[in-house]
Amino acid sequence: MAAIHQGARMLDPIEVASRDEIAALQFTRLQATLRRAWDNVAHYRAAFERVGAHPDDLRSLEDLRKFPFTSKDDLRANYPFGMFAVPREQVVRVHASSGTTGKPTVVGYTRNDVDTWADLMARSIRAAGGRPGDIVHVAYGYGLFTGGLGAHYGAERLGCTVVPISGGQTARQVQLITDFRPDIILVTPSYMLAIGDEFERQGIDPRSCSLRIGLHGAEPWTAAMRREIEARFAMDALDLYGLSELIGPGVACECVETKDGPHLWEDHFYPEVVDPATGEPVPDGEPGELVLTSLTKEAMPVIRYRTRDLTRLLPGTARSMRRIEKVTGRSDDMLIIRGVNVFPSQIEELVLREPGLSPHYVLEVYRRDHLDSMAVVVEPRAGAGSDDAARKTHAANLAHAIKAYIGVSVQVRVAVPGEIERSVGKAQRIVDMRPKD
Ligand code: DLL
Repeated sequence: MAAIHQGARMLDPIEVASRDEIAALQFTRLQATLRRAWDNVAHYRAAFERVGAHPDDLRSLEDLRKFPFTSKDDLRANYPFGMFAVPREQVVRVHASSGTTGKPTVVGYTRNDVDTWADLMARSIRAAGGRPGDIVHVAYGYGLFTGGLGAHYGAERLGCTVVPISGGQTARQVQLITDFRPDIILVTPSYMLAIGDEFERQGIDPRSCSLRIGLHGAEPWTAAMRREIEARFAMDALDLYGLSELIGPGVACECVETKDGPHLWEDHFYPEVVDPATGEPVPDGEPGELVLTSLTKEAMPVIRYRTRDLTRLLPGTARSMRRIEKVTGRSDDMLIIRGVNVFPSQIEELVLREPGLSPHYVLEVYRRDHLDSMAVVVEPRAGAGSDDAARKTHAANLAHAIKAYIGVSVQVRVAVPGEIERSVGKAQRIVDMRPKD
């Protein structure tokens, strides 16, 4: 798509188009997508028929609600290639989720899909403040996970110099950042912190490094975590959202000029927010579960995919496309502790408010007397005092804050520095010690 010049920014015309133009494009693309799914994917034809829906029933964007949802279970049931809408020979790439339980979910791309994805990731990096000629350090994992290759193709498409280091080898990450002087880093927020720790271990102040922009995602992270990363690295930390089922990273991204939640690239993905319990769409601005429909995917169109991510749809600011509120939780991450709903992100906010504590934490969930209980295990902040008395004070402060703000009593144990395993990709925040029933 031809880019127009807007001041110093090169934007696709659709990024600044009117809402009517965006809706008109979405409508024609949605019609084509429903038709493609119906014609080529047995699962969709059967699922549409079950609820008596046909692609011709789509007369307006709102009619999409007549069509059935797609869930991760549907993808698993059609493992590995049953959701593809093109002959397998036209699929130039597959990715797959690791899948904590059962079979992984597999996604496929045609050559055009890979191209669209590169365009959207280039658009995302540009929205975050990246420019052609920048050096881009990609520390998302390369492989079946979409993070590494998605970021890589996008940065190349934008005209950047890419350093494809992938995740892990933390000392080497620091060395290459120091030697190559990248402008931009793409990495999960939790691994960004581990890289920060490694800088400090080597006696280098992370604020002195060349990075000016981080694009962080692949896991929930709070506004408090953003402040932490920005303070430690003296850079802008932007929220990059995506999921493999829809394409990978680059479904939505924050703009550096506003930093007010990711703009969803609505020319390629149609968003709805639904009540997670009833599945009924809620009006813009109301909280619920994000449901996404692909508008241009060829190999694997996805109709009304239940992301499980909790957010709200907000009006556009830096772009005319709508934003999603920062996703700080998934419906399946919600814990019920003695009748109170608790999201790990709520705990994260409070951990980061306690000056003696570091952002390295896990939540242990166990069952005692038929009730779920939780222990927060968190490391002290470097230099904040880690003798027994100091640790007890930090623990008591956090337990008190959790009781006061969330309303549950939890145990807090301040671990010894380094005790909590560092992830090199998505952090595992919950350690579930409940018996499997
Ligand atoms: O995590 C794609 C990605 C890679 C996004 C790199 C951003 C950066 P999946 O492995 O399929 O794909 O996991 C998708 O991760 O449904 C969310 O629950 C979570 N997630 C992704 N980005 C964010 C974010 C990649 N910015 C799942 N904030 C999604 C919160 C996120 N959660």
